[in-house]
Amino acid sequence: MTIQEIKNRFAIIGGSASLDRAIEIAKQVAPTDLTVLITGESGTGKEVFPQIIHHLSARKHGQYIAVNCGAIPEGTIDSELFGHEKGSFTGAYEARKGYFEVANGGTIFLDEVAEMPLATQARLLRVLESGEFIKVGSSKVLKTDVRVVAATNVNIIQAIEKGKLREDLYYRLNTVPIIVPPLRDRKQDIFLLFRKFAADFSAKYRMPSIKLNTEAEQLLINYHWQGNVRQLKNITEQISVIEKQREINGEIIRGYLPQRSTSQLPMVINNTNHGGDFNERDLLYKVLFDMKKDLQDLKKIVVELIGNDNQEEQDFHPKNASLIKKLFHEVDSTEATIQLGFGDATKSHDSMEDQPEIIKTGFRSNVKKDNSADDVETEENLSLHEIEEDMIKKALIKHKGKRKNAAKELGISERTLYRKINEFDIK
Ligand SMILES: Nc1ncnc2c1ncn2[C@@H]1O[C@H](COP(=O)(O)OP(=O)(O)OP(=O)(O)O)[C@@H](O)[C@H]1O
Ligand SMILES: [Mg+2]
Repeated sequence: MTIQEIKNRFAIIGGSASLDRAIEIAKQVAPTDLTVLITGESGTGKEVFPQIIHHLSARKHGQYIAVNCGAIPEGTIDSELFGHEKGSFTGAYEARKGYFEVANGGTIFLDEVAEMPLATQARLLRVLESGEFIKVGSSKVLKTDVRVVAATNVNIIQAIEKGKLREDLYYRLNTVPIIVPPLRDRKQDIFLLFRKFAADFSAKYRMPSIKLNTEAEQLLINYHWQGNVRQLKNITEQISVIEKQREINGEIIRGYLPQRSTSQLPMVINNTNHGGDFNERDLLYKVLFDMKKDLQDLKKIVVELIGNDNQEEQDFHPKNASLIKKLFHEVDSTEATIQLGFGDATKSHDSMEDQPEIIKTGFRSNVKKDNSADDVETEENLSLHEIEEDMIKKALIKHKGKRKNAAKELGISERTLYRKINEFDIK
C-alpha cells in the first residue's frame, strides 16, 4: 500500500513531509511485532496510527482494542487489562477476562499511557517482556500474544523525572517511536484540512460550504493552533454552523481564533508550562484585567467628583477625605484580589478548583463596600457569569461533551463543572 493509499483508506488529510514520514514508519513497522510509541501534542491525529499499524499487520483479523489509560479508575485498571478471578475483590462475582487475554493474537492500543498507575506499569512491563501476566486475585501465570501500540501527548522526559512513568517501561515501549508533528509545523496542511472539514460540515448541516478570503486564509495559516487539528476542526464546525454568510473574511475568523495573552499578564505566560490549551482562560483574564482597570478609572472619577464638590473649600471635608481614602484602599485591595486569583492559577489544576469563585468573590465584596458603585457591581457580576457560562459551553463543545476533558481544560474539577452546568442550566 502506498502512503497515498493509506491516507485515502484512513481519511488522513495532508501532504507535509513530516506527516508522510510518520505514516511511512507506521507502514514499515506494521508487519513486525515491535512495540510502537506515538507521541505528539494533543489533537495532532495520533489515534489513527495504531489502526494503520493493526490493519497493515498479520494481526488484522485479530482483535483491536483501544484503551484510554487516563479514563479508567486506578482501582479497576489492573482488572480491566489483565482480568480477575471470582471473589478477588468486593463485587467480583464472576471471573473476568482482561483485554490482554481477549486481544490474544491482536493489537492493544494504550492511549494516554503516561497516566497509567505505577503498579499497572509493572504488570505491563512484564507482559511486554515475556507475554506473561497474572489475573487479579490469581497466582496462575498466563500467556498472551499481543502487539502493543502506546500513545501520549505529555512530555515523556518530564513524566519520567516526576516519577509518573517508569523509565524501563518507556524504553520498552519506545522500541519504534512515531512523532506526529504539531499543525503549526505543517502549515501547508492547514488549508487542505480546513477545506475538507468545511466540505464535511456543509454536507452534515446541509448548507453551502464556507469559503475563506485571502486575509482569512493567511490568518489560519499563521495561527499557532495549540489544539492542533482538533481545534481547526472545531473552529471550522463553529463557523459553518454560526455564520450566516458563507464568504468568511479576516474579521470573522479573528473572532474564532483565541489570541495568546499579551505580556501585561505575567501569570498567563507562566501558564504555558501546563502544556494545555489555555486560550479561553487567557481571554477571561484579559476581560478581568480590563474590568479591573475600568473599576479603577471609575473610582478615580468619583474621587475627582468629590474633589469638584469641594472646590470652594481648600481641604476635603473629613467625611469625603475618609471616603477617598477608602476608595484608594479599595483600588489596592481589588488589585490584590485579582493578583491572588492569577497567582493561584499558576498552581496545579487541583489547587485551582474554585478559582473563578475566588475572583468573583473578590470583585463582589470589594465593590459592595463601595456604595456609589451598585450599578457597576451588577454589571460586573453579570458579565462574569456570562463569560463563565460561555467558556463552559465552549469547552464542552470542544471536548464533544466530555466533562472530564472540559474540566481539565477549564482548570476546574469535574465536581465544580457539574455544579456550574446545573447552575447555568447548560444542556
Ligand atoms: N491529518 C488528519 N486528517 C484528517 N483528520 C485529522 C487529521 N489529524 C487529526 N484529525 C482529526 O482531528 C481530531 C483529533 O485527532 P486525534 O483524536 O487523533 O488527536 P490525538 O492526537 O489523539 O489527541 P489527544 O492527545 O488529545 O488524544 C480527530 O477528529 C481526527 O479525526
Ligand atoms: Mg487521542
